[in-house]
Amino acid sequence: MNVLVFKNIFRQPGINPVLYLKQLILICLLLQGCSSGKSEDKESQEATEVNISKSVFGALPDGRSADLYTLKNANGMVVKISNYGGTITYWSAPDKEGKYADITLGCDSLQGYLKGVPYFGALIGRYGNRIANGKFTLEGKAYLLAKNNGVNALHGGIKGFDKVLWEATPVDGEEPQLMLKYISADGEEGYPGTLTTEVTYTLLKDNSLKIEYSAATDKATVVNLTNHAYFNLSGDMSREILDHEVSIKADKFLPVNETLIPTGELKSVSGTVFDFNKSTKIGTGINNLKDQQIVYGKGYDHCWVFSDTSKTLKSVAKVYEPASGRLMEVLTTEPAIQFYSGNFLDGTIKGKGGIVYKHRSGLCLETQHYPDSPNQSGFPSTVLKPGERYNTVTVYKFSAN
Ligand code: BGC
Repeated sequence: MNVLVFKNIFRQPGINPVLYLKQLILICLLLQGCSSGKSEDKESQEATEVNISKSVFGALPDGRSADLYTLKNANGMVVKISNYGGTITYWSAPDKEGKYADITLGCDSLQGYLKGVPYFGALIGRYGNRIANGKFTLEGKAYLLAKNNGVNALHGGIKGFDKVLWEATPVDGEEPQLMLKYISADGEEGYPGTLTTEVTYTLLKDNSLKIEYSAATDKATVVNLTNHAYFNLSGDMSREILDHEVSIKADKFLPVNETLIPTGELKSVSGTVFDFNKSTKIGTGINNLKDQQIVYGKGYDHCWVFSDTSKTLKSVAKVYEPASGRLMEVLTTEPAIQFYSGNFLDGTIKGKGGIVYKHRSGLCLETQHYPDSPNQSGFPSTVLKPGERYNTVTVYKFSAN
């Protein structure tokens, strides 16, 4: 109300200025009340904001439907996960300008995954990595596993946890969660015991994705669960990952034979191209064919053993991509990590957006126990018995500089 109108009102015969002022104050108070009502509305709107949503991903050959869950946080990080294989299909992270882009390899549709891909973004079980000759003995009994990697068993067998449909429970909140459960029957892929596995993905406020693994069995068995996301922090999957800088807090790694089974030795990284204690470009040593281990792995495809052997959640590795400034930190309760530099990617897979995934266009950092532990008495045990609980946690945290 402008001053002139105000003065004119006072001049009107029959208007009591005191009463008028009182009424004006009352109106102001009421208006204030309305505006605080507005912020309450906003708060309740925020509280009901949905940070996890579900859509249909596609149909499996047996007719069952697979879903895709989209998790997002307030910063703008988005992670999409299917209950088919517990697969992370999309994962956006900010660059140094705050621009979010997808940093994982994968397929645009369920059909892409069904055609067969090398574990893009999937959950791996029952046993991540290789078991020599697809067999082991436990409590005096020999078990024969499905061999799916030459003479060896790899990543749980022909139909591992990456190819099954998990039961999904979304939990909304500021830090949305996707809880996944799968009951693997006694004898599945040759492994003993009914194994009930639960994996919870939580997208945190600080741009971390936390993955909690838990399992219980009704017969003695072996378990080694992990996730197989391929990262290319440039956000451009047509590029190689050779310029990424990696650090791994490990004084030792596990040398392998020609079929990538550990020899049993824990070898010092010192003076070798396996020393990532200082941040080093992947390209620096990956083609050093004078190193027999590089020849066997066709690059990096080895397990590093952390110097810190505590079972607490600790920072164990970092990857930095200089052009985008994206930095990924890996924290885990596990004793080791498989660093695989995408050596078997060969340009035959067309991924998201029709991009051809060339040799070494993605890298994996799979937190885990050592490969072939069921056959190597010198390695930390991967045996799980009835009444015990398998519990591990891994966090992938993103920032930029
Ligand atoms: C293994 C590689 C294997 C790849 C399959 C990695 O975990 O270490 O040897 O080729 O998985 O995609």
